[in-house]
Amino acid sequence: MATWTPTTWQEKITSQQPIYVDVDALGASVEQLSTLPPLVSSWEIETLKKQLADAANGKRFLLQAGDCAERFADCTPERITGQLKVLLQMSLVLVHSTKRRVIRVGRLAGQYAKPRSSNDETIDGVTLPSYRGDLVNDIEFSEIARKPNPNRLLRGFERSAMTINFVRALIDGGFADLHHPEYWDLGFVKHSPRASEYQNIVASIAESLRFMETLAGESVGAINRVEFFTSHEGLHLHYEQAQTRQVPRRDGWYNLSCHFPWIGARTTDLDGGHVEFFRGITNPIGIKIGTHEVDIEKLLDALHPTNEPGRLTLIHRYGADKVGDALPKLIEAVQSTGKQVLFVCDPMHGNTSKTDSGIKTRSFDAILSELEQSIDIHQNNNSTLGGVHVEVCGQNVTECTGGARGLDEAGLGDSYETLVDPRLNYEQSIELAMLVGQKLG
Ligand code: PEP
Ligand code: CO
Repeated sequence: MATWTPTTWQEKITSQQPIYVDVDALGASVEQLSTLPPLVSSWEIETLKKQLADAANGKRFLLQAGDCAERFADCTPERITGQLKVLLQMSLVLVHSTKRRVIRVGRLAGQYAKPRSSNDETIDGVTLPSYRGDLVNDIEFSEIARKPNPNRLLRGFERSAMTINFVRALIDGGFADLHHPEYWDLGFVKHSPRASEYQNIVASIAESLRFMETLAGESVGAINRVEFFTSHEGLHLHYEQAQTRQVPRRDGWYNLSCHFPWIGARTTDLDGGHVEFFRGITNPIGIKIGTHEVDIEKLLDALHPTNEPGRLTLIHRYGADKVGDALPKLIEAVQSTGKQVLFVCDPMHGNTSKTDSGIKTRSFDAILSELEQSIDIHQNNNSTLGGVHVEVCGQNVTECTGGARGLDEAGLGDSYETLVDPRLNYEQSIELAMLVGQKLG
């Protein structure tokens, strides 16, 4: 195998990278990023890897959730708390129904770079570079806003640090104490058609904790607090490279920009820069698998050569109408390598559609259907669905149709905020966790 360093990806053809006019400015940003302290530690990364290995064996369940694209403007206490709450509540519901420990991984604190289907966008005869996430440029359609700006790499890194700092402070301060899940309530859960079902779950978890503590005669330290990990698409390789380090007393290179980076569906080319970069990092990694051609055996040869437990997660995202055909083939392809991976379903990205008036949306029913089909298909093929990967928002946005409240296309305009893909709102997220939990339980 050819030698690897954090920069060998630069010798490959790498798709989805912005074109920076000022190469020196890019170099200066990358240089500075390389000297700044990391966002996560190798200990945490190794802890997560062990937990993902458990999930692959059916002993834990992965909940990976958050924004499609974080916005710099959303680096506020309200937004961060909202995302943390919705994740904690979904995980609580899943713990209750699956009777498995749930690994909580946010699409958070760094989900700032987006792949696009086209390099440019044309509006009224004006062509400008596409928006590629706040890490690269601004969504506003003007020449100055759309020009990729390397300074944004530092601004994004700083916001990631502020976000993770606030999440850690909330968790350490007892925000996520399982004795008090009532603190996690968001106001409008009270009005949800499923409010009482959720309150019953909360009450039953509090009751179980009290029961265990009565038996043990003391508080159950290890389960008092939840653990929380971060993830983002490892798309912008100059950014990822700058945070990739060797650490004392451990082998290998760690990407310390988050615990769990993933390769997006558009960047799985075997000879491309992303596979080259990811093969050299020691983190657990995810790969999105969609309907595009992938040679699973070769991909696993490159990215999962030693079959290390917890190293590789395949996040399948076929769409409700295609999963029935595609997933059994994927499972078989993996099984024939003899290697173990964690299978996770992303029911969002294969179910995106446009309304007649051109609004990007997803239907709750299609999302649920892909998840339910995936659970059954794994079961019928001697495999396990070990987690879900969803785009959610802790606010009451109106981006996906359906759910208990029956949001219809006409309602999408009320609070449509996403810069890229439509997310489940707070109530839809909890409802999805309940329905998936019932199916898994
Ligand atoms: C995403 O996760 O936001 C994304 C772009 O997904 P995919 O790579 O699966 O299309
Ligand atoms: Co998305």
